[in-house]
Amino acid sequence: MIDYKQKTAELILEKSPSLAGELSVTDIAQAIEVPSDKKMGDYAFPCFRLAKVLRKAPPLIAQDIAAAIADDPMFEKVEQVNAYVNMFISKTAFLEEMLKVSVAAGEEFGRSNTGGGKPVIVEYSSPNIAKPFHIGHLRSTGIGNAIYRIYDAMGYDVIRINHLGDYGTQFGKMIVAYRKWGNEEDVRRSPIKTLLDYYTKFHVEAEKDPDLEQEARDTFARLEHGEPEELELWKWFREESLKEFTEVYDMLGIEFDSYAGESFYSDKMPRVLEELKEKDLLKVSQGAQVVDLEDKGLGTALITKSDGSTLYITRDIAAAIYRKEHYDFYKNIYVVASQQDLHFAQWIEIVEMLGYDWARDCVHVPFGMVSLEEGTMSTREGRVVFLKDVLEKAIEKTKEIMLEKNVTTDNVDETAAMVGIGAVLFQELSNNRIKDYVFKWDRVLNFDGETGPYVQYTYARSASVLRKAGEEAVKKAKDLAVSGCLELSYISGESAYDLAKLVHRFPEVVIEAGEKYEPSIVTRHIVSIAQAFNKFYHDEQILTENEDEKTAKLALVISAGQTIKNGLGMLGIKAPERM
Ligand code: ARG
Repeated sequence: MIDYKQKTAELILEKSPSLAGELSVTDIAQAIEVPSDKKMGDYAFPCFRLAKVLRKAPPLIAQDIAAAIADDPMFEKVEQVNAYVNMFISKTAFLEEMLKVSVAAGEEFGRSNTGGGKPVIVEYSSPNIAKPFHIGHLRSTGIGNAIYRIYDAMGYDVIRINHLGDYGTQFGKMIVAYRKWGNEEDVRRSPIKTLLDYYTKFHVEAEKDPDLEQEARDTFARLEHGEPEELELWKWFREESLKEFTEVYDMLGIEFDSYAGESFYSDKMPRVLEELKEKDLLKVSQGAQVVDLEDKGLGTALITKSDGSTLYITRDIAAAIYRKEHYDFYKNIYVVASQQDLHFAQWIEIVEMLGYDWARDCVHVPFGMVSLEEGTMSTREGRVVFLKDVLEKAIEKTKEIMLEKNVTTDNVDETAAMVGIGAVLFQELSNNRIKDYVFKWDRVLNFDGETGPYVQYTYARSASVLRKAGEEAVKKAKDLAVSGCLELSYISGESAYDLAKLVHRFPEVVIEAGEKYEPSIVTRHIVSIAQAFNKFYHDEQILTENEDEKTAKLALVISAGQTIKNGLGMLGIKAPERM
């Protein structure tokens, strides 16, 4: 795809000798804007900054530049307005290039080789075993999966890690509770709910009998030392939990390359403690070992407890070192709630203090909280919304709506799953990730407005146009688009051109979303494409008698539909052919 900012920057520099030595092509390209009002052109170059070096009023500079580049065939028109050079790209040249590239790329459109195959780790989801997989986990799971897909599209070699919370004193509690009040059948039937009941009961009982806490600590210590009985139970809890998590991952179409969770690092802890000691970073405080980060404004980090057992943060330090040595990552991305900001700031700082120059390649990508209308979620008080229930309910509701609307598709269940799950994921990825939000059923299942179903419906509409046109007509449109032989004047109208411009920007948008770790940039862009497509569909008759006109319009439909589908794919959402 032509990079118009780059090309115009080159041209401006070439035609304005007085700028040479003052500005580089990159400076100019970076200064070029896409005006929000299209009356100001497709691109605009502001000249304020040049006034000083050229000792001239900005409008005069803009006038000179405009005059110098106006004749280039790249433009339809170049205007000076105040301090701006407003450039209107030649529509036919633009459309020809855009359709050629996007249609030829097809499923690959939007993918690039920005990453050059460099290894990037994306860690996401990472629930705690024997705890419910609730609506809050959708955040890390959905955002992380989208970041993985975007980085994959950017040409990085992505490793997906689920850093399971499968270690720590809570498993001591769980084992004690199971032994005292549990039974095997219940756990097998409904592992997470049952284990959670035991855990809750433990806390109730521990209020009355404080000895239980000590018993739990001792039990965890035995687990850490690899005592077979404790190990056996713990393994079983882990397996049963994983089975339940996997059901949800399957529904969401999510996979991982590694489930190396916290327990995986239990034997890698002594080395971390050793290195901390060597660098003289450990201090003893009330029997515990800590790293003092006060001078960095990061408080104190607790590394081992007074009984010698290690902590969450110690395991993160060990994990980062292991990952660097094992994967030699270019970036190690953690999609974890903003509540853990301090935790991440602390351990990344410690890794840096240990002398690892890659410490800052570990990136914490935080996100805001989900709450329920009734208030915050609380596992202990039983105020949770299970993610599986949400997905199932969304599918069921979608099916009802489809049956009401008499949607014609061979497979109602399959489409309802695509749309229902798509709706849940899409709303998750619609807002800036850092924003808190309140989970509301109405909003998830709202099928109008800027939602997943709306975008999916738009794709299905494009697919339906192509079906009506017939295979031969579609093939012809593709061939002529790729060979640059379309009659482009038929798609130079306002709504067609607006749509084409949005499609053209898609590859850039993907890279921007990746660099900012912000999938919502892709989400919002495909909403815009869907809106522009529907306007075009409404304003123009696509399947007209005029063969050339029909072919040119079909090429745009193919290109826009494919872009929507590719964009949805990067968010982990499927695009149904009919709905
Ligand atoms: N299991 C943790 C939790 O549920 C999240 C783990 C985040 N990842 C990490 N490397 N610390 O809160």
